[in-house]
Amino acid sequence: MNAMTQDNLRSAFGGESMAHMRYRIWAQTADKEGFPTVGRLFMATSDAEEVHATLHFKAMKDIKGDFAVTSMAGFGLTTTSENLQGAIDGEVFEYTQMYPAYIAVAEMQEEKQAVRAMQFAIEAEKVHAELFGIAKEAVDQGKDLEAETIILCPVCGWVSIKEHDDNCPLCKAKKELFVTY
Ligand SMILES: [Fe+2]
Ligand SMILES: [Fe+2]
Repeated sequence: MNAMTQDNLRSAFGGESMAHMRYRIWAQTADKEGFPTVGRLFMATSDAEEVHATLHFKAMKDIKGDFAVTSMAGFGLTTTSENLQGAIDGEVFEYTQMYPAYIAVAEMQEEKQAVRAMQFAIEAEKVHAELFGIAKEAVDQGKDLEAETIILCPVCGWVSIKEHDDNCPLCKAKKELFVTY
């Protein structure tokens, strides 16, 4: 596999793995602060980042060397409002800077599986940022997020806070596969 795309997948794997854990910790903080629906959004999105990390890991051909780390935005914050801003910053970094650059390299190097893994991620991260923005608006007014069902597409990491009676808008996975929170 081309070394540069392999490096980029490794970095993206590191970033997504950390986001997965960070969102689980921040879900606990949101629960403690009395925002259980924000907690559910963090848990659904945590699992979405696990989907991305797994896709990147599988796209890496021969894995060696140490794991570089990106997407450090929002590290070690404390209140749910700050955590949501950290989450937004991390998601925006990923879809505006990290993935566009990585995808350009992977396309140039004709690494098809890597391109596909990162295209799912970039589209999902845009949605994650938007939902965290809605959650932050509510929390900053002292309210919990309003959402009866939070949906995750376990194929591509797409998340919705509304009912969705159709297949996944990003990857076309069947709605029967969706996980609810
Ligand atoms: Fe995300
Ligand atoms: Fe999907």
